[in-house]
Amino acid sequence: MSSIATPPNVIHLAKPTPSRHELTEFEDGECYPLELADILINAYSRPGELVFDPFVGSGTTLVAAQAAGRRGLGLEIHAERVEWCRARLDDPSWVRHGDATIMEAYTLPTVDLVLTSPPYMTRLHHPENPLTGYQTTDGDYLRYLTELANVFKSAVALLRPNGKLVVNIANMIDAGHVTSLAWDMAARLHTIADFEREIVIDWEPAPDWITMDYCLVYTKRM
Ligand SMILES: C[S@@+](CC[C@H](N)C(=O)[O-])C[C@H]1O[C@@H](n2cnc3c(N)ncnc32)[C@H](O)[C@@H]1O
Repeated sequence: MSSIATPPNVIHLAKPTPSRHELTEFEDGECYPLELADILINAYSRPGELVFDPFVGSGTTLVAAQAAGRRGLGLEIHAERVEWCRARLDDPSWVRHGDATIMEAYTLPTVDLVLTSPPYMTRLHHPENPLTGYQTTDGDYLRYLTELANVFKSAVALLRPNGKLVVNIANMIDAGHVTSLAWDMAARLHTIADFEREIVIDWEPAPDWITMDYCLVYTKRM
């Protein structure tokens, strides 16, 4: 599939003003802006196609998919977030209350685009496990990388041939310690799908906990 409106190498974004709900429910920077989802959905899918987000969060991907005339499907582990997202959509059945780490347990259709931003973890001092929605304290960075890569592998299995996987992911700094999460994940993702390109997100103002933010774009191997 040729891209419809190829995004630039660098996307300049103003940090969005969070809604009152996002302020109380989400960490700073946890939600990406509608504008970013809109650019990526228009670039990597066509009207009527199905966009899948295994980590729905506040529902940005699905709200942008709806606005762009695509269909949507997503998983979210937190029941209250599921309800919040459903209220933002014309078709609440797009959001399923579920665990992306056991995606194969659900009957999910073939999808045309996987677009997501996973829950993040620093490599040090981070007992909260991102993949239980930070609800357990058995966090382990290397295990997290393996489990997250397995989520992407399962999501790519749902993709049609030549469909795109687009992952928004950052390298981070916390108390002087850098976590090269984007690089660590990229090292695993290249065994799952064909790397196509990276897009740099240039935030204004730049968040103090990010060294650089990316969208990594992959194509499903034939
Ligand atoms: C970074 S947020 C996604 C933000 C989203 N892009 C947005 O703009 O709102 C990641 C979401 O994944 C959810 N999550 C974490 N572990 C999960 C799992 N195993 N299965 C499904 N959702 C999960 C978290 O509760 C969180 O809402």
